[in-house]
Parts: sequence; structure tokens; C-alpha cells
Amino acid sequence: MQICSTKGAIRDVVRDWKRNGETVGLVPTMGFLHEGHLSLVRRAKAECDRVVVSVFVNPTQFGPNEDLETYPRDEQRDLRLLEAEGVDAVFMPDVDEMYAGVGDTHVEVPGLSGILQGALRPGHFRGVATVVTKLFNIVGPDKAVFGEKDYQQLAMIRQMVNDLDMSVEVIGNPTVREPDGLAMSSRNVRLSPDHRAQAVALNRSLKAAQDCALSTSDLTEIDRVIRAALAKAPDAEVRSVDIRDAKTLAELSGNLVADAVVLLVVRFGPVVLIDQKVISPSHPAP
Ligand code: PAF
Repeated sequence: MQICSTKGAIRDVVRDWKRNGETVGLVPTMGFLHEGHLSLVRRAKAECDRVVVSVFVNPTQFGPNEDLETYPRDEQRDLRLLEAEGVDAVFMPDVDEMYAGVGDTHVEVPGLSGILQGALRPGHFRGVATVVTKLFNIVGPDKAVFGEKDYQQLAMIRQMVNDLDMSVEVIGNPTVREPDGLAMSSRNVRLSPDHRAQAVALNRSLKAAQDCALSTSDLTEIDRVIRAALAKAPDAEVRSVDIRDAKTLAELSGNLVADAVVLLVVRFGPVVLIDQKVISPSHPAP
């Protein structure tokens, strides 16, 4: 496995593969890898001849009061896990390598980056869109794999790739969960044991939403059922519950007539967790 800390080094590696006609898959990560990331790696391996994983905690997607300083990191462990998965190259730049000498050019996807989590985290999606564009330009992948867990991020990246005619295929990979249903996240290790136990409420509330949708299409009732399930976790501070069009993330009202995505942002102490599930109506509109 080749470990590249500079843009030039990873470009050289990829150029050699492409000269041999090999296809390249990219899995962008911020490290502290878990089974969810490894499932993205396996998907990329299944889709492409060569796989590059980027490990970079991108400062521009963290707000001033967010967890950049405490974001968990363990580069040596990440490298061991990626080697065991048979990854071909890891791109692991430092902040200077990515941003030194860079001006204020950025990529913004206004419609999707200002709503939902984007409204709660101003500037976050602009930071993501910009760094993902940089990674695409540096690595030049044929395909890039992202987790469906970050549903809004995935929707925004798809929109950006479409709008800017980027020649990369974006693949969404299903959320990987702990045995009790908690979506895997690098932030889970920062939950106290008590909050970790309570955090199962997120997945339970999503399941309750789907069950509820089988008996009613009333979105207000589905929302009520989700919030009631979350309320069973006494320390859960519900920052948002949204039921949106599964494709466009447009607001919905009235009845569930087509697939919708339930998007949750819930805080336990200092840790903000997100989760999502696409729910289907029992009687879709014809
Ligand atoms: O999903 C993430 O880990 C990050 O937002 C990403 C896509 C690697 C960009 O920094």
C-alpha cells in the first residue's frame, strides 16, 4: 500500500495506473476508520481496479464552536485497517499541503447546502463541497464512494458533480450499524456509556417511522411517533427531525405519497449524532 502525503505523490501513483488502463475508486474519509468506512472501501474495490482512500480531517468544514480539536484521530490504526483491506494507496496530506497558498475560491451548492444540517452548521457544506472538489481534482477518480448515512452530503455531492460536469461517478453505500442499530460513526467513541446506551433511540425512532407509515400517511403523526421514540432517551437533545422528499430534500406537508427520507440530528452532551432512513408510503400515489 502506497502512502502519499503530497498531492504530487498521489497524482504520480494514479497516473501510472491510468496509463495501464486501470480504473480508480476514491473513498474520501476524515480517518478514525470504522466498519462503515471499510464497507465503502469494499464497495470501491468491487467497482474499480484500484482504490485510493483519503484521510484528511478537513478544517474548513468545522464551525468555530465545533469539534475540530477533539475530532478523534489514529493514523497508525487507520493505515493498518486499510492495508488489511488491500487498499492500493492512501492520500494523507496535512493541512498545509491541502491549503497553504490557497485563495478564497470555494464551491457552493446553494440549494442543498443552506437547508437542514446546513442551516444548523453554516459553512459546513461549503467546506465539504470544496474539499471534495479538491480531492477529485487531485486524485482524478473514475468513481467515488460516500456513505448514505450522510444523506444530505451525498445529495449535495451528486448535485455538484452534475452541475459542474465532473467526470466522476458518485456511488452511495448503505449505512452500516452496530448490532443494536446505532449507525457507525467516528463520533460514537466520544459518547459516555450512558449516552451510548441511549443513542439506540435514533434507530428505534426511524424504525417506528417506517412502521407508522404502514398504517397512516399523515406526516404530522409520523413526526409525532419519531419524537416520542426519541423522548425515551432522557438526555437526547433533539436538534432536528425532518421528513423530506427522498430525492430533492424538498419540504413535505400533508400526506406521505412517495418515498421520503427521515433526517435526525440529536445531541447527547457534547456529541452530535445524525441518522437517516428512507421510508415508503403504504399506498404510493399512482
Ligand atoms: O464524510 C466525511 O467524512 C467528510 O465530509 C468528507 C466527505 C471526507 C469530506 O471531508
